[in-house]
Amino acid sequence: MADPKENVQMEKIVSLCKRRGFVFQSSEIYGGINGFWDYGPLGAELKRNVKDLWWHAMTRQREDVVGLEATIIMSPAIWKASGHVDTFSDPMIDCKTCKGRFRADQTDEIPCPQKPSKCVNECHGEKTAPRAFNLMFQTYVGPVQDDSAVAYLRPETAQAIFAQFKNVEATARQKVPFGIAQMGKAFRNEVTPRNFTFRSREFEQMELEFFIKPDEAIEAIHGAVATVPTTGHPGEPQPNWGWQAWHQYWVEERVRFYEGIGLDRNTLAFHRQTPSELAHYARACVDILFKFPFSKRDEYGELKGEELEGIAARSDFDLSQHARFSGKPMGVFDDDLRAAWGKLPKEKADDLWRRYYDNRKGYLERSGVAPEAAAKQATDDANGLAKGQYVPHVIEPSAGVDRLILALIANAYSESSKTDEKGQTETRVILRFHPRVAPIKVGVLPLVKNKPELVAKALAVRDLLRPWMNVYYDESGAVGRRYARQDEAGTPFCVTIDFDTLGEKPELLDTVTLRHRDDGRQERLAIRDLVNWLLPQIR
Ligand code: GAP
Repeated sequence: MADPKENVQMEKIVSLCKRRGFVFQSSEIYGGINGFWDYGPLGAELKRNVKDLWWHAMTRQREDVVGLEATIIMSPAIWKASGHVDTFSDPMIDCKTCKGRFRADQTDEIPCPQKPSKCVNECHGEKTAPRAFNLMFQTYVGPVQDDSAVAYLRPETAQAIFAQFKNVEATARQKVPFGIAQMGKAFRNEVTPRNFTFRSREFEQMELEFFIKPDEAIEAIHGAVATVPTTGHPGEPQPNWGWQAWHQYWVEERVRFYEGIGLDRNTLAFHRQTPSELAHYARACVDILFKFPFSKRDEYGELKGEELEGIAARSDFDLSQHARFSGKPMGVFDDDLRAAWGKLPKEKADDLWRRYYDNRKGYLERSGVAPEAAAKQATDDANGLAKGQYVPHVIEPSAGVDRLILALIANAYSESSKTDEKGQTETRVILRFHPRVAPIKVGVLPLVKNKPELVAKALAVRDLLRPWMNVYYDESGAVGRRYARQDEAGTPFCVTIDFDTLGEKPELLDTVTLRHRDDGRQERLAIRDLVNWLLPQIR
């Protein structure tokens, strides 16, 4: 458990989120609904900024990634093929005394419903044995509510990408390696939602499926698979990269993204999944963690961090599953591979053929295909490779929007205390958001509100900036109070329109005071330069 100091920090964050309109409890007027959260005006802007930045970085800024926006409810066959119907579950136990229901692996942390301030172990109730609880929300499609109409709210956005892979490939003029990105709602009936929005039942994901050639194909075309250092950014993608290089590349690209929105590397931690943690089909998975105030601490007292995003090398499992379950081919044809294979020395061709065969057979057998049928299918697959065909492998960076929003708020939260001449101390909250994610980019403040020329000028400045960024116009209260309000909302800049703007000092005509949130620094800028000064800061 995090120590009380950190819980106090979380309490402050939760209270600020409500007070300033970042996050509200869903259905609050009816007592709320556990695991569901609404984003208020500032939260909605923050979230939109984060999603826009992700979309921009992952699709529009790249030649090799395209977007998708699929439905939330899809054929239930998708969830059968993906394994979610059979295995997407948490171990659940019931307490026979307090009737509480808990995740078997989290009983020491969950408040007992009978004595909410105590943990369940203090309840001392007899517990049932753990049993699997499927996390998918179920619904019915159409007017008849029977088994044939059962459908699920998607528990991840990724599967639609696999299901639409062939359509996207055919229409987007992309060749492997390329990626498909999607963001949107996902739903999981978490047994114990907790830590504010961190584990919710309705949340948003930002996922990329980046499709790559199998290493055997790379070796056939390029002679060998490139080796890259296992730490640091491996640089610009190269044609001879195998899955390891691509995996390392995406881990580092994602870290760059987080750094670019204000989460320094020292606020993050990394967890490389051990072989026993990895899914049977996965080759590697690196989780990027953020050191939330509620994170556990390691033996040196350092916050360990909690998962923001996982970057998994998932082999060719997903497309292979959909090929088997749908009966539709999910492979691609690769001219370069076909041409290269024809020129391979026999020994090399045999070696690659055998390795590909072994991988395919292993996958098929682990998926429950009988050995004989698996051997026959794997032979066909390996013969296909020799003709330039394969099922693409995939690297999957999968991030949660809501966790990132919480991380950004926790990271930005700071307090500053001032004692006045009467000895009274006032503590103010400043949210030090990176300007790129800040919900409001600039506050526009006339020095006073009872001078029509000043107000008119301030409104003109607001209207000048509005097409470019989110602006907040505020004329009520002392200017210091207004700055404080913007600091608490995380607004990085304020511009104040004063009498000099109107030409009281002629040399300052049509200039404004620009105030920086983080150090209170003020500078004078011409109104005509404002847009050009602000844009590079916020983009
Ligand atoms: N397609 C892979 C996948 O869904 P995951 O680790 O289950 O992988 C990816 O989820 C990300 O989605 C997590 O790293 C986390 O940021 C977010 N996420 C998962 N469950 C969540 C929940 N209950 N509440 C909020 N975010 C969640």
